Amino acid sequence: MKYRISLLKGDGIGPEIVDSAVRVLEAVGGKFGHEFTFTPYIIGGAAIDKYGVPLPDETVAGCLDSDSVLLGAVGGPKWDNLSGELRPEKALLGIRAALGLYTNLRPAKLYPALKGDCPLRADIVGSGFDIMIVRELIGGIYFGERGYREGKFGHEAFDTECYSEFEIDRIARVAFETARKRRGKVTSIDKANVLESSRLWRKTVHETAKEYPDVVCEDMLVDNAAMQLVRNPRQFDVVVTSNMFGDILSDEASQLTGSIGMLPSASLGDTTRGMYEPIHGSAPDIAGKGIANPIATILSAAMMLRYSFSLAKEADAIESAVDTALNDGLRTADILHEEGRALTTAEMTDEIIARL
Ligand code: IPM
Ligand code: MG
Repeated sequence: MKYRISLLKGDGIGPEIVDSAVRVLEAVGGKFGHEFTFTPYIIGGAAIDKYGVPLPDETVAGCLDSDSVLLGAVGGPKWDNLSGELRPEKALLGIRAALGLYTNLRPAKLYPALKGDCPLRADIVGSGFDIMIVRELIGGIYFGERGYREGKFGHEAFDTECYSEFEIDRIARVAFETARKRRGKVTSIDKANVLESSRLWRKTVHETAKEYPDVVCEDMLVDNAAMQLVRNPRQFDVVVTSNMFGDILSDEASQLTGSIGMLPSASLGDTTRGMYEPIHGSAPDIAGKGIANPIATILSAAMMLRYSFSLAKEADAIESAVDTALNDGLRTADILHEEGRALTTAEMTDEIIARL
């Protein structure tokens, strides 16, 4: 089979880690007889420098015309002082919305080989945890009404959290379907003791839950959830939550796995075209040094094979190659804590390819 993939390398370490994932995909293609073609498009700070806008129309059109999209990361200090509309991050929100990617799957699982990297006590971690965070991605406060106005204390700024029943039901269904294929439990996270939008969230999730009697559905307030994640992460199977709560909780969960450099993500909509990206940022401090951990992006490529192309065997092959590399003690700098040498981005990529 042939698959056309758009590459959005972005800024900072983005180009380095996307190149690693491309090499892994090419190796998988060779091994399993698939042809992947890659077309790069410019996005983020790189696009601002070249065209004065973070998300050129050509990039959106190119992504819409491809079978799937692989993204590195956007942003960096160079563009931090631009206005909201012109920031690199705006491109990320823009491309997610343009592609209709309302679901963001962020799996956080502890690799046995990285148990020692988890900051939690061994008795809390036990045999490890495996959480699937289902984050709503194109609604809520990220996309709500915002602006400046004169208020009681003078000049003020505001952002609005707004969710429709339609949007909540749509993401809840993804969570319930996902739980059915896992351990059958959904934890819906909100702030229903304070926010009206959360009360509608909770009510709507309960309505949708009626269609999934085989799945256990529980509610949790977001402050408690932040605590429960470090108190007992093993209680979670699927977590479903809003755009902003999902952003925050997924960073917290990532640290439990040892390094944010390990976590992939899949952004999905109603078609098979998705966008796949590591959950970490552009890490400007280590950009260009060739030392970034490519695993999150390589695992994102595996998610692309699984979710967009239904190539489960091929995705398994990548995931187990990563497993084996970690079990063999191979580490990039971010996950190296004991004696030993940190592998470069390219070396780690070679080692993973060698284990495919
Ligand atoms: C993420 C990132 C983005 C988000 C930023 C860069 C806009 O933090 O993907 O988690 O908040 O969604
Ligand atoms: Mg984030």
